Amino acid sequence: MKANDLLSIGDLARRTGLSVSAIRFYEEKGLVEAHRTAGNQRRFPRSDIRRLSFVLIAQRLGLTLAEIEEALSGLPQGRTPNSADWKRISGEVRTRIDAQIAALEKVRNNLDGCIGCGCLSLKKCALYNADDEAGADGAGPRVLR
Ligand code: FES
Repeated sequence: MKANDLLSIGDLARRTGLSVSAIRFYEEKGLVEAHRTAGNQRRFPRSDIRRLSFVLIAQRLGLTLAEIEEALSGLPQGRTPNSADWKRISGEVRTRIDAQIAALEKVRNNLDGCIGCGCLSLKKCALYNADDEAGADGAGPRVLR
């Protein structure tokens, strides 16, 4: 198997876990580009598996399709992107990952403490959320801020 092997849309769907209609949608958005066979069938380079996987990861991190399009537009056209290319374009994704790691660490470190939810049920709430002052900032457990 090689990165420039051509795959059918069904093969791409099986390997990425995306539906065929989702791949067509991303193709319409220009995130991947199909070659056409003599019989007018779509064929995608195997390297598009990484492009689509990048889309999936970026979406799960909360990037919008426009942000993903912007990031992927930094990849070279006409050749398989290498690790330097991916490093160059994944800055925003890395930033989002770092922010989510920091938020998760904060939650993990506060799970047995006051999470600023308004319940005032723990001794620590009197110290960290007297009279539910955190509620003034908005709804939900404010530790997620
Ligand atoms: S844990 Fe709910 S307000 Fe402190």
